[in-house]
Amino acid sequence: MQKIGILTGGADCPGLNSVIRAVVHKAMHEGYVVTGIKNGWMGLVENDMRIVDLRLISGILDRGGTILGTSRIIPPLKAEQTKIIEENFKRSGMDGVIAVGGEDTLKIGLDLYKRYAIPIVGVPKSIDNALSGTDYAFGFDTAVNVATECIDRLHTTAESHHRIMVIEVMGRYTGWIALEAGIAGGAHYICVPEFPVKIDDICDSLKERHKRGKTFSIVVTSEGAKIKGYTTPSTEENQHRRHHLGRVGELIANLIEDNTGYETRVSVLGHIQRGGAPTAYDRIIGTRFGFKSVEMVVNKKFGEMVSLRDNKIRSVRIEEAVRQHKAIDEDLYKLSQAFSG
Ligand code: F6P
Repeated sequence: MQKIGILTGGADCPGLNSVIRAVVHKAMHEGYVVTGIKNGWMGLVENDMRIVDLRLISGILDRGGTILGTSRIIPPLKAEQTKIIEENFKRSGMDGVIAVGGEDTLKIGLDLYKRYAIPIVGVPKSIDNALSGTDYAFGFDTAVNVATECIDRLHTTAESHHRIMVIEVMGRYTGWIALEAGIAGGAHYICVPEFPVKIDDICDSLKERHKRGKTFSIVVTSEGAKIKGYTTPSTEENQHRRHHLGRVGELIANLIEDNTGYETRVSVLGHIQRGGAPTAYDRIIGTRFGFKSVEMVVNKKFGEMVSLRDNKIRSVRIEEAVRQHKAIDEDLYKLSQAFSG
């Protein structure tokens, strides 16, 4: 019997289970069994795998997280780990491995494909939406919806108390979540990593609003945003712990209060943006991605990643997807600025 392996690596996000479910269904139709590799690439290092059948995927479409578990590995893998993966892969009898993940997971997959000819197909996952080569990575829509709901809730309390509310969202080195949730939530100022700002610009814009009689404002900042002339405590820590950005919200809130005298609070949304049920859109995209990834294994399109372009499912070389981060849409950012001041 032919076998397809599937793993979910890096940060979890809503929609992973939708992909796993789709892969199992499509693989069955194609005459393959599916081997679930536990905890991302670590499952291949530790030879931790099991068959995933219809019984195991029953009822998982709307469940957040991943039934396979995940782990964070910052590439490159250690030489000894790569060797073990190569051996375990050979022994497993798998015809291809579907690696569902973001930049780190796909970089490892690309390396294993190029150096050891392990047949990898990538599926783009990232609440940050920062992968190139695809218009969309699943998980992002759910994160934006969760963040928007939180902004709505913080909006009403900011208004009642006549406060400035600074809301820090995830997104790592790109500002997609901040920009889209900020626009959807009616933010009065949005800070993103792609466009560093001066604290005076933020404060002037808030003062303008107050001159018009407004007594509260909403500032949404991406965890990776930069304020000119300042560093956040996490920027220094981050040299050692690459995934831990943040605390820029705290910096912005303190600076706003000091410079304007307006009472300011900060709310860091954190992992809440990655938990819970996926939106309908993420379930549908996850399902489409899962189907396509099996087709790619069947057609031996290895070293490639599923991609969405103009709402059509295609594929792209993984190399292209991980070369650089996909920055936010500049036009959308300009549009968002029309609501400042
Ligand atoms: O890449 C997804 C993401 O949620 C980023 O937005 C965030 O910076 C990072 O992962 C957090 O990682 P961890 O779950 O390891 O704290």
